[in-house]
Amino acid sequence: MGYWKLLFFAFHILTSFHGLCNGQPDFRAHVCGDNGTTSMYESNKNTLLSSVAPNIGRNGFYNSSVGQNSDRVNAIALCRGDVELDICRSCVNDSTHKLVQLCPNYHGAIGWYDKCMLRFSNYTIFHQLDIGPERSLFSLNNVSDSDVPQFNQALRLMLDRLREKAKSGDSLRKFASERTSGPAFQTIYALSQCTPDLSDIQCYDCLDGAAKAIPYCCNGRQGGRVLRPSCNLRFETERFYNETPATPQPPPGKDSSTTRTVIIIVVPIVISVILIIMFICIFQRKRKHRKPTAKIETMDEISSIETLRYDFGAIRIATDNFSDSNQLGQGGFGVVYKGTLPNGKEIAVKRLSRDSGQGEQEFKNEVLLVVKLQHKNLVRLLGFSLEGTEKLLVYEFMPNASLDHFLFVVIWHQNMQCMVNSQLSQMSLALVY
Ligand SMILES: *[C@@H]1O[C@H](CO)[C@@H](O)[C@H](O)[C@H]1NC(C)=O
Ligand SMILES: *[C@@H]1O[C@H](CO)[C@@H](O)[C@H](O)[C@H]1NC(C)=O
Ligand SMILES: *[C@@H]1O[C@H](CO)[C@@H](O)[C@H](O)[C@H]1NC(C)=O
Ligand SMILES: *[C@@H]1O[C@H](CO)[C@@H](O)[C@H](O)[C@H]1NC(C)=O
Ligand SMILES: *[C@@H]1O[C@H](CO)[C@@H](O)[C@H](O)[C@H]1NC(C)=O
Repeated sequence: MGYWKLLFFAFHILTSFHGLCNGQPDFRAHVCGDNGTTSMYESNKNTLLSSVAPNIGRNGFYNSSVGQNSDRVNAIALCRGDVELDICRSCVNDSTHKLVQLCPNYHGAIGWYDKCMLRFSNYTIFHQLDIGPERSLFSLNNVSDSDVPQFNQALRLMLDRLREKAKSGDSLRKFASERTSGPAFQTIYALSQCTPDLSDIQCYDCLDGAAKAIPYCCNGRQGGRVLRPSCNLRFETERFYNETPATPQPPPGKDSSTTRTVIIIVVPIVISVILIIMFICIFQRKRKHRKPTAKIETMDEISSIETLRYDFGAIRIATDNFSDSNQLGQGGFGVVYKGTLPNGKEIAVKRLSRDSGQGEQEFKNEVLLVVKLQHKNLVRLLGFSLEGTEKLLVYEFMPNASLDHFLFVVIWHQNMQCMVNSQLSQMSLALVY
């Protein structure tokens, strides 16, 4: 594969992750799969979906299938663990209607509602760990800046406990909720839930990945959710669940499935190896073009990142206080300005939109990553600047470079960690493609 092809291919993968890391401030979400069903499939789907709400049990979980071979439809419904049966049924009933309206003639779809989740597919979905498609939602209210580290710490510990509790639930219910005290006399409420058909390992992995998405979707927010087909988690500073959950019926007996466990362990390893090989490819190509003195040693990363730092005030002066006349264009995540440093060097400055939802350390790590991944055909990233909530990326100014160059680097920057953390399953699809 030629280098440009590889880049294009990487670009394609990365842009396809974009929507996944940027939740809408809308507290419901849905995703449609493949469309173009047969009338037999539609008829099976209608039969199946109309049976879900009336049959869902007290534990708030239901799975069922209708049809044979390529016309077989599978469905799963899951109510939030604290929701009473009648509310659960009415939520599932509404979602069966809504999802069919939103995704007509689709083989598969998933919808997340406040109190329930509904999913149908022509693929087998019982006992499967499905981490994608993933959606995240965040609250528009912020934790005050000075409280963010303490809030994050409390939230992280809380989600660790909830993950342990949820995974050790039985085959009827894998749900846990908790409240804890946060900074500034705030209480943080959170819940974690898996579909109970998962094994404890599957549930743990699903919630672990979902928790890792929080710094990217919801950092500094008073509330957030990460929604996956097999699990979801949510936190708020206001209580959003009933604290006395409905009691489940006794479990019918456990199942063991070692082959699935093996698959869960092997597949991520294989995918990680593919990813690593891809990255090594890029690094090695880069090395060929680089003079040996330009090497950045891994051990020195922490100090080398500081050498890439530009003074915010200096950039402000260079761009004439980010004046409109210096604006080069508007990319996906902010505005690009032209600037001139005191030594006469021309630069292009990308001012990231303030809600990029990222902490300082993550930002620095990613800058370092982008610097290392540079190639002669890409606009060179010279460094960065940070002050308060302002995050700037400083590039070499190339008069003839199109905005696409900037866009590429920034989309890369925004998506790298999110992708690596949480979208490996989709990555494997993209690799086949
Ligand atoms: C399937 O989706 C594509 C893209 O949204 C649309 O153009 C096409 O008409 C749809 N096909 C059917 C059968 O609904
Ligand atoms: C739901 O899944 C379980 C476990 O695979 C299976 O035993 C059961 O038959 C399924 N229920 C229906 C209604 O298909
Ligand atoms: C199910 O939802 C539909 C549409 O939202 C509504 O017309 C119907 O009355 C509901 N059925 C029940 C049993 O609640
Ligand atoms: C599900 O439907 C899609 C779209 O038609 C098809 O490509 C896929 O092979 C189907 N999967 C199964 C398991 O039937
Ligand atoms: C919350 O923070 C984001 C980004 O930091 C900002 O865009 C937004 O206006 C803030 N919201 C409130 C209500 O202060």
